Amino acid sequence: MRVTAFCGSPRVNGNTRALADEVLRGVGSEGAECHVVDLCRLNIAPCRACSSCRRTGECIQKDDMQSLYPELLESDVLVLGTPVYFWGVSAQMKAFIDRWYAIAEGDAAEKLRGKKAVVVTAYADTDPDTPEHVVGMFRRALDYLGIELVGVLGVSASDPGDAASNAQAMQEAFSLGQALRGYRQPMWE
Ligand SMILES: Cc1cc2nc3c(=O)[nH]c(=O)nc-3n(C[C@H](O)[C@H](O)[C@H](O)COP(=O)(O)O)c2cc1C
Repeated sequence: MRVTAFCGSPRVNGNTRALADEVLRGVGSEGAECHVVDLCRLNIAPCRACSSCRRTGECIQKDDMQSLYPELLESDVLVLGTPVYFWGVSAQMKAFIDRWYAIAEGDAAEKLRGKKAVVVTAYADTDPDTPEHVVGMFRRALDYLGIELVGVLGVSASDPGDAASNAQAMQEAFSLGQALRGYRQPMWE
């Protein structure tokens, strides 16, 4: 079982990363092979809507996204982490998700179907509805792609270290990981 966390915060020591790490620690304790990708360390350009991918099956932009397509396709479970920025996802996460356009149809799309995903998000507000649009976007996008959203964790946290020092949040993240135990995408079995 391969699990990859894609983190969309520009703060690699921030709250989103702490939550994603704990999900990975939980699923890692169940024997999964875990990977983490900080999107802010990579060069991922926005989608150009050229539709070249629809003709050739490949994105025309030869940036770091090229190494993430196989990472996405070969993972059984995706952990999608983003801070809430103006009630939406971060720009890093949005650019990453938009580039999935190149694998949303054809053979690659078939490889996405049946995967599972978990969304983790951090926000400064104390209103628990703050990430509703973040979660709503992922819910619709993942459903469209045939990826099952099996868990969501939103944590109120402002400064780096806030989530990591929130014992309940860490426990919930760890449990979310543990609950993914043993999952293998059927087509890879
Ligand atoms: C550009 C920007 C926009 C933000 N927008 C919101 C927001 O709409 N709602 C909110 O509760 N927090 C907002 N925040 C606060 C972050 O979501 C919060 O600090 C979060 O813990 C950041 O996660 P990180 O540590 O993983 O970067 C914003 C922060 C920044 C820098």
